[in-house]
Amino acid sequence: MIEVKGISKKFKNETAIDYKDMTFEDGKSYILLGASGCGKSTLLNMIAGILSPEKGEIIIDNVDITKISQKEKDLLRIKSIGYIFQDFKLITEMTVIDNINILRLEGVDTSRADEVLKSLDILDKKNKKVKNLSGGERQRVAIARAIVKSPDIILADEPTGNLNFAIGEAVIKQLTEIAKGKTLIAVTHDDRLCKYFDYVIDMNEMTGGKYDA
Ligand SMILES: Nc1ncnc2c1ncn2[C@@H]1O[C@H](COP(=O)(O)OP(=O)(O)OP(=O)(O)O)[C@@H](O)[C@H]1O
Ligand SMILES: [Mg+2]
Repeated sequence: MIEVKGISKKFKNETAIDYKDMTFEDGKSYILLGASGCGKSTLLNMIAGILSPEKGEIIIDNVDITKISQKEKDLLRIKSIGYIFQDFKLITEMTVIDNINILRLEGVDTSRADEVLKSLDILDKKNKKVKNLSGGERQRVAIARAIVKSPDIILADEPTGNLNFAIGEAVIKQLTEIAKGKTLIAVTHDDRLCKYFDYVIDMNEMTGGKYDA
């Protein structure tokens, strides 16, 4: 279970976002909707332990990650969290399989790579360079890389952002299928995708006071 309590995040340029309390139950899928800039990516980055809030608690399986070291947060993320970034963060000059196997550097077991690529219908692209793939194929590579370690938690930031609706819907169907039994938190601008998730959270309502101090 992930509990977000009394979180406030302030950036150097004085932008500050206050988040209302949220709970994400084990094995459930959540979709976060909300206007650009309301703080969706920032929330995922805080849950992933990449950004720290100024105040409040983020409790993941009874551990308040705001109280542990960056190294401990990194280990927790490597072990338990699969993060599909808004901008993918793939190395386009490298092949699909090398983009996955590079995770071995941080101790991730990538032996399920073929199985995961197959489940996303891109096993035949395994030895192609990412720069030669379509947007939808790149999106699937980013998903494959995030889930190869069978994480308990999957964070997906705009997983259909660059795709047309039909392809985006197919990707979401695959992602929610793969995430069964795991906690999935996905961000989207497209409310037509809500039906594939257990819960819909309107982040415009959850970020109570975005203000420029
Ligand atoms: N590194 C940063 N430095 C300064 N301000 C930032 C930084 N990251 C985010 N912000 C600001 O915090 C607010 C929330 O940003 P965030 O990226 O979380 O929004 P978002 O809801 O994900 O938007 P989008 O839908 O466009 O991706 C924005 O006003 C943004 O400008
Ligand atoms: Mg964002």
